[in-house]
Amino acid sequence: MILDDCPIYGVDLFSDDVIRNPYPHYQAIRDLGPAVWLDKHSMWAITRHKDVREALDAHEIFISGKGVAANDLSNGNTPGNLLASDPPLHTHLRKVIYAPLHPRALAIAKPRIEASANALIDRLLERPGFDGMTDLAQFLPVSIVSEMIGLPETGRENMLAYAAAVFDLFGAQNQRAKEALPIILKMRNYLAEQATQEHVLTGGWISMLYDAAQQGLIRPEQVQTLMRDYLGPSLDTTIFATGNLIYLLAKNPNQWNKLRKEPNRIGNTINEAIRLESPIRCFTRVLSQDHQIDEVILLKGSRAIIFYASANRDERRWENPDQFDISRILTDHVGFGYGIHQCAGMQLARLEMRSILAAILKKVSKIEIMGEPSYAMNNVLRGLERLPIRFLA
Ligand code: HEM
Repeated sequence: MILDDCPIYGVDLFSDDVIRNPYPHYQAIRDLGPAVWLDKHSMWAITRHKDVREALDAHEIFISGKGVAANDLSNGNTPGNLLASDPPLHTHLRKVIYAPLHPRALAIAKPRIEASANALIDRLLERPGFDGMTDLAQFLPVSIVSEMIGLPETGRENMLAYAAAVFDLFGAQNQRAKEALPIILKMRNYLAEQATQEHVLTGGWISMLYDAAQQGLIRPEQVQTLMRDYLGPSLDTTIFATGNLIYLLAKNPNQWNKLRKEPNRIGNTINEAIRLESPIRCFTRVLSQDHQIDEVILLKGSRAIIFYASANRDERRWENPDQFDISRILTDHVGFGYGIHQCAGMQLARLEMRSILAAILKKVSKIEIMGEPSYAMNNVLRGLERLPIRFLA
């Protein structure tokens, strides 16, 4: 079966309504078939857990080197960074990018992250109410991780706006993407003019890229390109994941109480929040050859959008997929991706989230929602903009 009689879904998956509540659409697409043509986006959607894992695993068929965005403009500007590359380049770049992100490197930052998380929760406990996003979820990424990246202090305050724009440009070419463009241009100018070897923090991730260039591991002009692998995904993803985690615990007091009784479930609780509300909804791939999924043939050169967030709620894989259940076995959720492009920063994200949650568990008896939370409108990221809550000791 090729395009003529394949299942088709005609909804714009980057519209405001879908961004607010994408889950019924993912379910509808999953029910239509393993590969469904998206009329509005002219690409295939892969949404079932099994097919998402298989596609991510088949990285020589579903390639990243022609970009992983859902629009031609971004993909045309794909600069050969880690996210948008294939082996052998990817294998080589991954070693360079991963150097400061592996557990041994992170062990140095761990005590500071934990102490900061503890002090933060103490301060928040004294307040009658606060915003779970700006006052809590943003804290570690903005105060510590942005320093670990090591951009010069002037201009660092724009990092959140830059990161959000990067993810808007990963989606369809809609109004949000248009508005993101000037921000991306500003980011590129800032990086070119300010993130020079003499201005970046010594020992930071970006200065390590300059070191790698000096050692001949990468070409000097690749430093600018590879910076984006740190800038795009390192802040907002974890911020949204942390906000989602806190909101889910506040909304599900039975799971919160279970976690209080069984604190050894912290790691699983974090994974369950990432499964249920996956902060990165999707990325795309291009087919390097004709490829058959069940009866559908995806032609060479076509683009497929892979929905991690849908696979993580696929009723073919998960029992009661829409329920927050911290006792689930979660070894194969795809919230951090899967295969060779699996998240290079997941140990850092987990360390931050674990430090926050451990501090909350130690000091807080109840998380109370104080008003209506609102979702951030981003093409690819899923998370809250506002989360009015308070902690009770
Ligand atoms: C909870 C937070 C996070 C989530 C949910 C997340 C999710 C993901 C996902 C789904 C991918 C797969 C991309 C693909 O399949 O093409 C990915 C890749 C990546 N992530 Fe994360 N991420 C998070 C935090 C971070 C952090 C803190 C960093 C720090 C720098 C980071 C750096 C990267 C990089 C460099 C890649 C590209 C890896 C490659 O292509 O080999 N991420 N992430």
